[in-house]
Amino acid sequence: MVKTKRRYACQSCGSVSHRWQGQCPDCGEWNTLVEDAPATVFSLKHDLSSGGRAVAFEPLDAPGEVLERRPTGLAEFDRALGGGFVPGSAILMGGDPGIGKSTLLLQAAAQVARSGEDTVYVSGEEAAGQVRMRAARLGLADAPIKLASATSVRDILTTLGTMPPPALLVIDSIQTMHSDTIEGAPGTVSQVRGCAFELIRYAKESGAVLVLVGHVTKDGTIAGPRVLEHMVDVVMSFEGERSHQYRILRALKNRFGAVDEIGVFAMAGQGLEEVPNPSMLFLSGRDEPIAGSSVFPALEGTRPVLVEVQALIVRLQSGATPRRAVVGWDSGRLAMLLAVLEARCGLNFSSAEVYLNVAGGYRLSDPAADLAVAAALVSALADKPLPPKSVWFGEVSLAGEVRAVAHGALRLREAIKLGFERGYGPPEVNDGLRGVDYQSIAQLPKLVDRIMASA
Ligand code: TYD
Ligand code: MG
Repeated sequence: MVKTKRRYACQSCGSVSHRWQGQCPDCGEWNTLVEDAPATVFSLKHDLSSGGRAVAFEPLDAPGEVLERRPTGLAEFDRALGGGFVPGSAILMGGDPGIGKSTLLLQAAAQVARSGEDTVYVSGEEAAGQVRMRAARLGLADAPIKLASATSVRDILTTLGTMPPPALLVIDSIQTMHSDTIEGAPGTVSQVRGCAFELIRYAKESGAVLVLVGHVTKDGTIAGPRVLEHMVDVVMSFEGERSHQYRILRALKNRFGAVDEIGVFAMAGQGLEEVPNPSMLFLSGRDEPIAGSSVFPALEGTRPVLVEVQALIVRLQSGATPRRAVVGWDSGRLAMLLAVLEARCGLNFSSAEVYLNVAGGYRLSDPAADLAVAAALVSALADKPLPPKSVWFGEVSLAGEVRAVAHGALRLREAIKLGFERGYGPPEVNDGLRGVDYQSIAQLPKLVDRIMASA
């Protein structure tokens, strides 16, 4: 008889300890360690151990095997997935509450159902009537979706076992599911992990596409278990500012495709609308340049998106600690850039409040945004607008050098197409581009001189 050891799992990050502690040694959260269900949950048939069977080895290039994909019915969703759902795969859809996950999945499920495929939508959060009301509002009430309001994984899988497997199974959300073979309340690590395991196994065996909705905690990880991210084939995140219209669908992990393509949607009264041409969305559209505003040609996969970066500097009279507030960019990166501007360029931000905002609720993750942010900051500090119709890109090092970034020429070309006339960036960019006045900036101090000297 194997002695089962006690295990304690952190409800915040999912890390496992063998003794109880007040603070999680991994993520530092307090009072999050809870005794985990014994590890036997996963290996359902221990008795197989008496006589294992031989495992067959196969070649890598099995002939005639192609990756089949099913369109989601939403081109932007397909794009973010790398071409549609892969049968038998499991997708985790993360995002802040209220961002539109349920709306997106109901719309996709309706498209799949209308195309004649069997589709099951299980809501553990809303009553069937609520989902029906939303479907009616979205104009999807006629879609032949099989809708259920349920939270017991045993009930759900038993029901699915009595019918042909659906093409698409949506579980909204995994945190509301519970399995009676596992101890703990719904939403705890062991429940989430156990329920996901059962559902994923069903998907693999039946060939159904499984989409699990997962809530995101305040620090941006999908609540509870990172383990869930390892269990699924695709991790997607649905992002945006709730107060803004635009939503970005991103793949953070994809076993069947690239992770750098995004899908862009706009939340309207009739649900999510696809935005096939997002390049101009995140610009303010104003003609007169103002101090503290720069335009960054971001690249999302193969798709360029021009984004306006806005900086505001407020000088403080008193000795109060100045605030630094950032929306849409990494605050650590801003602190670094401010330090580089102070140390290498002799600028003084220490007694000033710094506010940085990326327009339209966009979230910048491209490191090439450094130069555009630096330009906005210097322009705000000097109270001088940047040259009109200009774009800025380049990564800034701690030494104040402007480093080359991927696809400089592609970024410039898109900016030209949209009517921009000037580009500022690293020296490596091929300057053989017609229609643009490209000026290379090798060092950050040169940027500062240029802005300070401008009219
Ligand atoms: P929802 O899909 O419920 O978000 P999640 O499942 O991620 O929590 O979306 C809720 C928000 O979307 C809600 O605050 C209102 C907004 N919304 C619209 O603006 N238009 C619509 O047609 C719908 C259905 C929702
Ligand atoms: Mg929801």
